Amino acid sequence: MQIILDTKPFAALEVDALVTYIFDESEPVQGRVAEIDKLVGGLIGRLSKSGEVAGKNLEFTLVHAPAGLKAARLLLVGAGKREQFNPGSLRKVAGAALRYLKSRSLHKVAFVLRENDLNESTAQAVAEGVIAADFETDKYKTEKKNEKFIETLTIAGFNDADKAAAEKGIATGKTIGEAQNFTRDLVNEPSNKLTPQILATKAEAMAKEAGLKVEILDEKKIAELKMGALLSVAQGGPEPPRMIVITYTPANLKADAPVIGLVGKAVTFDTGGISIKPADGMEKMKYDMAGGATMLGVMRALATLKQKVKVICVVPSTENMPGGTAQKPGDIQTAMSGKTIEVLNTDAEGRLILADGVHYAKQLGATHLIDAATLTGAIVVALANVNVGVFGSNQEWTDKLLASAKSAGEKMWQMPMDDEYREFIKGSFADIQNIGSGKGGGSITGAWFIREFAGDTPWIHLDIAGTAWNYEAKPWLAKGPTGVALRTLVQLVTSL
Ligand code: BES
Ligand code: ZN
Ligand code: ZN
Repeated sequence: MQIILDTKPFAALEVDALVTYIFDESEPVQGRVAEIDKLVGGLIGRLSKSGEVAGKNLEFTLVHAPAGLKAARLLLVGAGKREQFNPGSLRKVAGAALRYLKSRSLHKVAFVLRENDLNESTAQAVAEGVIAADFETDKYKTEKKNEKFIETLTIAGFNDADKAAAEKGIATGKTIGEAQNFTRDLVNEPSNKLTPQILATKAEAMAKEAGLKVEILDEKKIAELKMGALLSVAQGGPEPPRMIVITYTPANLKADAPVIGLVGKAVTFDTGGISIKPADGMEKMKYDMAGGATMLGVMRALATLKQKVKVICVVPSTENMPGGTAQKPGDIQTAMSGKTIEVLNTDAEGRLILADGVHYAKQLGATHLIDAATLTGAIVVALANVNVGVFGSNQEWTDKLLASAKSAGEKMWQMPMDDEYREFIKGSFADIQNIGSGKGGGSITGAWFIREFAGDTPWIHLDIAGTAWNYEAKPWLAKGPTGVALRTLVQLVTSL
């Protein structure tokens, strides 16, 4: 799909469908919609009066052969209330319109921005929305729906005066949207097509192409560095683990600038190990590498966006298998930091590999840490598939992330980290244990476990277990991997 900016009058756009969006009855036909209405002889006004077009959120009205337009169709998308509308809603409106038209085998689409939405961030939102919406998970289907594709997406409505801002927004949106799809493509891969070694090879290729420094630690190097927590998870199966390290260093780096450490869980398949999971739904555990894939996508975007701070991305990757050599409940492991861990449940493996990932990121010089992980089923209980769970050790740092989430239009909710929860993971026979001994609070004890390895370094943990996978398709996004948190993290790092 090609995204084009076109400032010529939209009546002259020769496309399969011209799309715009319309607010509910609180806002009558006005601005850009009034302009189109005039061209089509008052049709929109009549549809609105009769109640057929009410402007309800994601209500679609497709008009064929509209008189006065070169476009073969006019698509009106409901956008709800004007006062609640923001770049996040625009992203969804644009994405939903794209999927609606694509499913009808239309190829050339023009999206007209409304009179109040002519700036850089709206152009960015439309580009991000349509690129994410265009992503399909039919890679392994031999019979592809070949006629269903969008060839060109024209962004219209801008005047020559705001052309530069629009172009800049589109370029940023393309970088971010494509990075998000890069992440989603990795997450979509089944575990037989994406082992830790294959993930490392793909990460290396991405980094080299993007001009980022990359180092892959193999099982020997991992053992040499005494990453005992990561090794303990990997010992359950034949696939060797990998530690992926990618670094972005800006030109003219200031000596006192923060160094961001991004650590992502990449368990390419989580059977649970000896504490094995039930069969029902286990196939979903191919997405247990979503945190790592997100961080790799963030690095891909940052390489193009050229921000001011240094970023170190650390992705520990392994399978969690129940083989004859697997670790067993009660085993005591020594993490790279020297802390000893009693593994009471081998299914709480994400925190083990992150323990070494976080410690290593600190050793490489990170002054501010963020980890992302499909860490707990408990976060699905707490926040369902709506909000990402946010845990932090430093409110100032956490507030920056929450503000970035807001501006990126991703729902995130901060969870408590009271000291009482820390008691839950005090070990009986080792320094700490990998599951809580108290009842409940499963996501918080998981977070506290990782925090033990972050120490005094400001740290944020994102539990994306509930949000990294769409169990059902949304009008603006296919079923499957979402690429959640990528936009927030890119926004955060570029705002520093
Ligand atoms: N990968 C799972 C968490 C998960 C659950 C991800 C649902 C996506 C959807 C994680 O490794 C895990 O198994 N966690 C356990 C922890 C428990 C043993 C303390 C869980 O949540 O049950
Ligand atoms: Zn697990
Ligand atoms: Zn897991």
